[in-house]
Amino acid sequence: MSATRRLFGAAIAGAFGLLAAGTASAQGSLTVYCSVQEEWCRPMMAAFERATGISVAMTRRSSGETLTQIRAEAQNPRGDVWWGGTGDPHMQAAQENLTQEYRSPMLAQLQPWAVRQAEQTGFRTVGIYAGALGYSYNAPELQRRRITAPRCWADLAKPEFRGEVQVADPNTSGTAYTMLATLVQIMGEDPAFTYLRALHRNVNQYTRSGAAPARAAATGETLVGITFLHDAVAQKVSGAPLELVGPCEGTGYEIGSMSIVRGARNMDNARRFYDWALSAEAQAIGAEAKAYQLPSNRSAPIPPQAPRFENVPLIDYDFARWGNAQERTRLIDRWQREVRAGAR
Ligand code: G6P
Repeated sequence: MSATRRLFGAAIAGAFGLLAAGTASAQGSLTVYCSVQEEWCRPMMAAFERATGISVAMTRRSSGETLTQIRAEAQNPRGDVWWGGTGDPHMQAAQENLTQEYRSPMLAQLQPWAVRQAEQTGFRTVGIYAGALGYSYNAPELQRRRITAPRCWADLAKPEFRGEVQVADPNTSGTAYTMLATLVQIMGEDPAFTYLRALHRNVNQYTRSGAAPARAAATGETLVGITFLHDAVAQKVSGAPLELVGPCEGTGYEIGSMSIVRGARNMDNARRFYDWALSAEAQAIGAEAKAYQLPSNRSAPIPPQAPRFENVPLIDYDFARWGNAQERTRLIDRWQREVRAGAR
């Protein structure tokens, strides 16, 4: 090729590049599996598209469901980034080699608990937010039925709560798995399963998604909803008559996480999203979307409504142990056999 033709070609390519830069597709695309609330997924993806011109295809699914999907697609990955959801299934994905190591330059800006999540998995996942588990009850409904206000996990297994408690299914929901692992850590495994069988009699529904029981408690469809406390706050700020409980025996918490899918088709854009999602600016979108978790970027504003860890009796949740693939699978199988399959 002559020098002239090469120059000409470069000029054309340059002009095309300039023209195309204005359109989203020129920057390529990104597929994100989102495991927080839809209300937060949507503005987050829109903000990333605005900031970068990269067009995002987003699917919202619960944490356990997303792990199942990424595993099923391992030979032919369709997703690029898994953003949000509880940390344990992200850790399991890391251990199963379903996700990709990435040391983001943004790690330096994060809280120690978010960095520890990365270090414990060989940098295959990272903490993006944290939130404590608990439950909420519909105060006027409780009063109407003249039931004493519950304060502890043990209270929810009492006969007066028969058919009045809602919680998610740990097969699909990371929230429900956090509860399972929390109770095992507080009570010891066999007593925890005895408790869960007693609780089972009081459960009116096991939902797919973790936050759904807070919505049901808000409308009075259930008296009590077991969720992360920030999910109950989201209902409360919208006017729902909910009271929040950090159970007296102690409670666990999540380190909501983010991972890049191994073999992602849009690897450069995946890293760009990852870095951006760890910025203070991107993490501030949560509060605007009524997501009241504690952000992992040290400079991100903490929403005033966020339940503060100082006010909840937190246990020292062992993420390495309960995010371990064998342990997580074993506990969920045992729950399925000994709790879910039981009569109510
Ligand atoms: C809600 C919470 C998140 C949590 C997620 C887990 O969206 O706000 O903090 O990570 O639930 O969802 P899952 O449906 O898997 O329990």
